[in-house]
Amino acid sequence: MSSENTGTAPITSPTPRPKTTGLHVGEPAPGCKKVDPILVADHVHRQFGGVTAVDVDHLEIPRGAITALIGPNGAGKTTLFNLLTGFDKPDTGTWEFEGKSLSGVAAYKVARRGLVRTFQLTKALGLLTVMDNMKLGATGQRGEKFWQSMIPAIWRSQDAEIEDRAMDLLQRFKLDAKVDDFAASLSGGQRKLLEMARALMTKPTLVMLDEPMAGVNPALTQSLLDHILDLKDEGMTVLFVEHDMHMVRHIADWVVVMAEGRIVAEGDPHEVMKNPAVIDAYLGAHQDVDLGIATGRIAVAEGGEAQGMTAQEIVDEGEAEEAALNREEKR
Ligand SMILES: Nc1ncnc2c1ncn2[C@@H]1O[C@H](COP(=O)(O)OP(=O)(O)OP(=O)(O)O)[C@@H](O)[C@H]1O
Ligand SMILES: [Mg+2]
Repeated sequence: MSSENTGTAPITSPTPRPKTTGLHVGEPAPGCKKVDPILVADHVHRQFGGVTAVDVDHLEIPRGAITALIGPNGAGKTTLFNLLTGFDKPDTGTWEFEGKSLSGVAAYKVARRGLVRTFQLTKALGLLTVMDNMKLGATGQRGEKFWQSMIPAIWRSQDAEIEDRAMDLLQRFKLDAKVDDFAASLSGGQRKLLEMARALMTKPTLVMLDEPMAGVNPALTQSLLDHILDLKDEGMTVLFVEHDMHMVRHIADWVVVMAEGRIVAEGDPHEVMKNPAVIDAYLGAHQDVDLGIATGRIAVAEGGEAQGMTAQEIVDEGEAEEAALNREEKR
């Protein structure tokens, strides 16, 4: 099995890696401009009956960085993902990807343009093997074209290329031993990894991950964080939804906060978590409530040791970490 020149060789640089800074223009306020946005959305609105799920006035996602989309349950994060990737239609709104309109473009075409997403609840097809799931992720297959499909040599060589890329990705996500297993036999965490690996089959430029860590075994979360950082190292832009503030702080260069359908704050992870609008969005008046409990999975991220932290303690820890990183950079 050849693995050369496929661009998927494992990258072993350890976390933490340097954050990408200087992403925004002016004050880091909701809807603020970015120096080099890859995705720009305007007036995106989606109503379900009496519920306004998404009401985003303006949003820019910075290119080449990792942006976390956070917000309490029901804030509209998944709905926004669905809209931007063509899995749902907004009542109003336009958005551009790489400078070209993407509004109203069907999901499969969105993927071909270089924007892929994963789902909060995994969509791996249980009755297909892991390899077949990976192959379904590949787009622009020459074999799909009628005339070319008459010439088996063309699709055979392409099939081999696709399998090579799939195997590389499966190795990287430590799923290569499962290549012939049905996806249904994988654990929840492995299915998440399969979904991420499958998304990468299209060589995307923007990867949108909806709660990539949810249901992933704690032993795998560190490697998953590394995988996400690797995507950035390879030049991809990442937008991910995550409830766990520790993970957000560790890997995000930029954070966008949603509440009740709107963008309520934006900023770098350390700053944004001090923002009263963010603490309010999560906790309402109960600022002494444990943000770890409010957000669900901090204990998983930290191997259990971080249980019982208050919002203030998380902010303090973040500041200590930031100071340590600054010291490191100066050295
Ligand atoms: N298909 C739908 N039909 C009706 N209401 C919906 C639908 N999808 C989402 N909603 C509602 O829209 C709001 C936003 O939901 P969404 O799933 O986008 O939130 P979220 O931020 O992803 O939450 P979570 O963190 O729990 O995943 C919620 O009030 C939800 O109940
Ligand atoms: Mg969601």
